[in-house]
Amino acid sequence: MATDRGAKETIKSVVKDAKDKVMEAAERLQQHSPKYIPGAPAPEPAPFDEPTSARVPLPPKPDQGGPDLRTATGLSVGGGQTARGQQGEYLTTAQGARLYDTDHSLKAGRRGPTLLQDHHLREKITHFDHERIPERVVHARGAAAHGAFHANGAAEKISTAGFLKSGAETDVFVRFSTVLGSRGSADTVRDTRGFATKFYTDEGTFDLVGNNIPVFFIQDGIKFPDVVHAAKPHPDREIPQAQSAHDTFWDFVSLHTEAQAHTMWNMSDRGIPRSYRMMEGFGVHTFRLTGPDGSTSLVKFHWKPRLGVHSLVWEEAQIAAGMDPDLHRRDLADAIEKGAYPEWDLGVQVMPDSPDQMFEGIDLLDPTKLVPEELVPVQVIGTMQLNRNPTNFFAETEQVAFHPGHLVPGIDVTDDPLLQARLFSYLDTQLTRLGGPNFGQIPINRPHAPVNDMLRDGFHQHGVHPGVAPYKPNSLDGGCPFFAGADAGAFIEAPAAVAESTKVRAAPASYDDHFSQVTMFYRSLSAVEQAHVADAYTFELGKCYERAIQERQLAVLANIDVELCATVAAGLGLEPPAPTTPPEEPTVISPAVSQVGRRWPVEGRNIGVLVGPDSDLADVSTVVDALGAAKLVPLVIAPHGGVLTHDGGSVPVSRTYATARSIEFDALVIAGSPGTVQAKILVDEVFRHFKGIAVLQQGAELLTRAGVSESAAGVLSGSEASALCASLIESLGEHRVWSRDVAV
Ligand code: HEM
Repeated sequence: MATDRGAKETIKSVVKDAKDKVMEAAERLQQHSPKYIPGAPAPEPAPFDEPTSARVPLPPKPDQGGPDLRTATGLSVGGGQTARGQQGEYLTTAQGARLYDTDHSLKAGRRGPTLLQDHHLREKITHFDHERIPERVVHARGAAAHGAFHANGAAEKISTAGFLKSGAETDVFVRFSTVLGSRGSADTVRDTRGFATKFYTDEGTFDLVGNNIPVFFIQDGIKFPDVVHAAKPHPDREIPQAQSAHDTFWDFVSLHTEAQAHTMWNMSDRGIPRSYRMMEGFGVHTFRLTGPDGSTSLVKFHWKPRLGVHSLVWEEAQIAAGMDPDLHRRDLADAIEKGAYPEWDLGVQVMPDSPDQMFEGIDLLDPTKLVPEELVPVQVIGTMQLNRNPTNFFAETEQVAFHPGHLVPGIDVTDDPLLQARLFSYLDTQLTRLGGPNFGQIPINRPHAPVNDMLRDGFHQHGVHPGVAPYKPNSLDGGCPFFAGADAGAFIEAPAAVAESTKVRAAPASYDDHFSQVTMFYRSLSAVEQAHVADAYTFELGKCYERAIQERQLAVLANIDVELCATVAAGLGLEPPAPTTPPEEPTVISPAVSQVGRRWPVEGRNIGVLVGPDSDLADVSTVVDALGAAKLVPLVIAPHGGVLTHDGGSVPVSRTYATARSIEFDALVIAGSPGTVQAKILVDEVFRHFKGIAVLQQGAELLTRAGVSESAAGVLSGSEASALCASLIESLGEHRVWSRDVAV
């Protein structure tokens, strides 16, 4: 046992050393080339001629990492990140036989026919024919990253979970996603985002499978197929893709009014995040934690992004869907590659585990309700940093399998009927999606805790199980494996009381209120956010063909907020209906749900630096250095690609006028006045989307041509490049210049 532990420690330290080396390499790369542009496809530049001398495969890029090297049963085996990749200098068959040609099939003579005996041809084509697996039935479009979670110990009293103990560090893999679209759909559609985290703890894997919206569409999992069928594209024409702006969605939510809370969040700016790095995450359901003294509490999990919560404006989201449908994927990967590692604090709202599981009139088992942070503050229990990009999208991001039932001692589920259905659904769907019952053995899904499960055989079995008695009780295998008690770290369900009752298909009366929290959410938003909500409803309902559906949704909105209803009705050209149940004045207003009015760190934001033929390149260099030093990502936009040279040095070009679009920049430095239409559009969009603008002297002419006044809010001008950058960085803390007067 002691030797086992020693071996484990050695392996852990080997793995840690390997990880540290990758991190060091990434750091060195950045130090040595501060103007390095993220996104290059390979770890070294490609030569012009096809290389023909045999060499071992290139390593992954320094920003990339794969899942830990583990056996199918969870034992760490150490080794570098290349151990899972292709090996050797030469092209081989899948069996490792070296090949001399892969351009020609084996034929009877040069003009054929092709011979059936060509095993290489058949193996290559057959494998290709089976490269696709079914996409996820929901959340098909996603992006992911590796990282680590550090616990601060604040949860020690309420949960026995080892990974929450002070100083514990746990590997994580996080997958962000949209819900509705297919795998190839655009990132910036109006939709809920998934925020699923796999904690590889020593006590087994814990998955926190959450969303970026704290409430859900339905109160009972049996309605999940209904809401998804309604929100997915119409089954006849299979349009529209990845969005809710269509009749079937609004038909359902206007009839099934418990969906209104989530719908309102979707219509708010939360439905179009600026970046995955700038999203909150929520466990949504209430969970039950058990502390070391056996006491239980009810908690809601929250992820708080260190960069703050930011959103796109709607026009930006639409432009991005065409210009860069991968905006969120690219943003996450580039930020990590550049060393701007995104971080989130994990927090909990802790409520007493009372017999009725209610808190201040809020039913904690109703997933369409939140607990305002003003009533129960979020206590931070640890911090997560994402710092490695996946090495292979399919192997990791596509094959990862999350499950809300992956729990560890100290964390348990509640009787929320939505969560209860989820506990069935994920394992069930993954049996089909990942082709059989052994997907837990796929590298990204392997636990970092010893697995001894008595599950056997099945498609793609990677374990080589010794023994003859995978059953209990047995005497032939020495009685192995044995039960653990609480003292040996067993997962023991919290002994929650179940009320004596009768079987019934019905919801409790506390689930009947579908509107009061929707009103509370809307009233808690700033004026500019409320205007966006009205615009979103007007747009989405404007896309519906059926007038009855528009009118029905208006009738529902009248019960939420009369003015909002009137604004949307005016936009649709319909009469606003009178409320059937007038909205009640909210008892709590929750500024925490608003994204406006706070200042946020600016690290990792993308700044476009527009260069023209007339630009002073020494100034441009100063701008790039100043932004880089403040850990922002300067992206130089020039008339042509390559490098711009000047007496004092050189500036690498990130984008040309043809490849740049405003949507990827959080602010713009105008360092020249190119006469192109693209440059004018760039300035116009940045201005209309309320982004910061800094103008050097040479950019003044372009600003005027774009119709933007130098005295407009959030437009900074100056002749001294570093002072100007400092002012821009300072102003960026508020994210957008909402005070700007923009006539759209
Ligand atoms: C009864 C209600 C629900 C059902 C039946 C359900 C079902 C599913 C299914 C079948 C998948 C695809 C899983 C896969 O193929 O691996 C999925 C993914 C997902 N679900 Fe749910 N879901 C429900 C509610 C929710 C809720 C309330 C949340 C958020 C709290 C949520 C968050 C997610 C996330 C984040 C993913 C993507 C996981 C990933 O990145 O692989 N789901 N869900």
